[in-house]
Amino acid sequence: MAVPVILDCDPGHDDAFAIWLAAGDPNLNLLGITTVGGNGQLAQTTRNAQVVCTVAGIRDVPIAAGADSPLTRTLQTAGDIHGASALDGPVPPEPDVDLDPRGAVQLLHDLLTDSPQPVVVIATGPLTNIALLLRIHPQVRTKIKEIAWMGGSTGRGNVTPYAEFNCWVDPEAAAVVVAAGLRFSMVGLNVTHLALVTPEVLDQLAAVGNATSAFAVELLKFFRASYQEAEGMAAPPLHDPVAVALVAVPEIVTTVHTRLDIELHGPETVGATSVDLHNKLGRPANAHVAVDLDADRFWKTVEDAIRRMR
Ligand code: RIB
Ligand code: CA
Repeated sequence: MAVPVILDCDPGHDDAFAIWLAAGDPNLNLLGITTVGGNGQLAQTTRNAQVVCTVAGIRDVPIAAGADSPLTRTLQTAGDIHGASALDGPVPPEPDVDLDPRGAVQLLHDLLTDSPQPVVVIATGPLTNIALLLRIHPQVRTKIKEIAWMGGSTGRGNVTPYAEFNCWVDPEAAAVVVAAGLRFSMVGLNVTHLALVTPEVLDQLAAVGNATSAFAVELLKFFRASYQEAEGMAAPPLHDPVAVALVAVPEIVTTVHTRLDIELHGPETVGATSVDLHNKLGRPANAHVAVDLDADRFWKTVEDAIRRMR
């Protein structure tokens, strides 16, 4: 039976692939999409979610806009990677899917409440919406099977030496969600950097040969140029769909149950994910942290999902 999931995202080039994988993988039942400010302003990430669904012909999944800024901080976006629109590259179609008027927190509440079984919440942006949901509607905790987050790192960061973007934008939200005591999985840069868009991967995606794969390839060509310019990486890491793959085909991503703490105050380390892999601090484990990826199976899973799109 397909696992019911809700995807909270900030499209974003890699978020687009998270949407297509969540909608296309037969192991998942995508109940809804919520958007958050992150790679771009909320209006941009929300429109981009509508564009990504329009391209793929995803018309039966509600999309609702969420928080336009972090819990306490000012939103910092990622135009250096995703461009001015947060989805630069191909000319986007005019969206043909409407927004759900409820807003993200209400849509999350309603989908969780109405689901006959607990739902996996997959987050591929800052955790602001999820933190607000848990604060405003704590009763929905019983309907959340797991929170699977693309964020953080067991090693270095990508915005500061020690902080990854999704955590750095809203570390307070990440701390709230980790402290909630729900099953929490973290897919960090240490693993997403094993999901590299090599020329061979790009060729395999192009060979899918439908409208979505053509749009996807154009997105990746922009994404690749951004990573080359910003990070000196010839093959960009496609972060977000790895968190979806963890839920769709768990054996693709290896995790360890360990201790995760979020740094909120260090002047040089705010937003860092402190992962105590060797239990140096003796604190109880509270997260399932990704440590490895079967990259070949990952890319095959992504390609198969895109093949099911328009
Ligand atoms: O650090 C990578 C993460 O930040 C990805 O989710 C990307 O989309 C951006 O949101
Ligand atoms: Ca993202």
